[in-house]
Amino acid sequence: MDIRSWEERYRSRDRKAEDVDAEPTPLLVGTARNLNPGRALDLASGTGRNALWLARHGWQVTAIDGAHSAIEILRDRAQRAKLAVEAEVQNLQSSDLQIPNLRLETRAFDLVAICYYLQRSLFAPAKEAVKPGGVLLAIVHTTEGDEKPTESRLCPGELRLYFQGWEIQHYYEGKPADPAHKRAVAEIVAQRPTN
Ligand SMILES: C[S@@+](CC[C@H](N)C(=O)[O-])C[C@H]1O[C@@H](n2cnc3c(N)ncnc32)[C@H](O)[C@@H]1O
Repeated sequence: MDIRSWEERYRSRDRKAEDVDAEPTPLLVGTARNLNPGRALDLASGTGRNALWLARHGWQVTAIDGAHSAIEILRDRAQRAKLAVEAEVQNLQSSDLQIPNLRLETRAFDLVAICYYLQRSLFAPAKEAVKPGGVLLAIVHTTEGDEKPTESRLCPGELRLYFQGWEIQHYYEGKPADPAHKRAVAEIVAQRPTN
């Protein structure tokens, strides 16, 4: 789905149950509970189910999404809950994660999350954004059966290849534990080496 379609989906609130009302993703919650709260970056945050959970649990959160409407909803939810979430959406261009030479703060975040968003070129800058000793968590859809990999679906085994040299703390491929999703996923939690 392109940004325009996401924009429409969030504005119409047609799928509010899967977006605004969805619970935080279980892997994010399980992982963050075992970490000391610090700075977190939620890439392709949507309306903030994960960013808001992190903020509620003491994390200082930056959320980036390409859809203005998602960030507006996220800001509104954060304000109502009196939570500090630094929702970055200066304009569609600058929050589009697909812009060439995307620049994220480097070595800045204790936790970087990419949940249910696949952009192969994002793994390198997202990894750079993690502090040494910090953690990157990613959940992406994978192909099923005879399907060929696409821009939005990795092939089985592909996700771990982006994290060579990192300590893999969790890796899973199969049906998602997240009730907001049905298609097969690959999940990873990987720790950046300290040196
Ligand atoms: C399936 S939703 C996942 C939202 C959230 N991470 C979650 O798990 O609930 C995918 C998100 O990616 C965002 N997105 C899609 N293309 C993007 C792009 N090029 N740059 C930034 N965000 C994008 C959409 O706006 C949407 O919010």
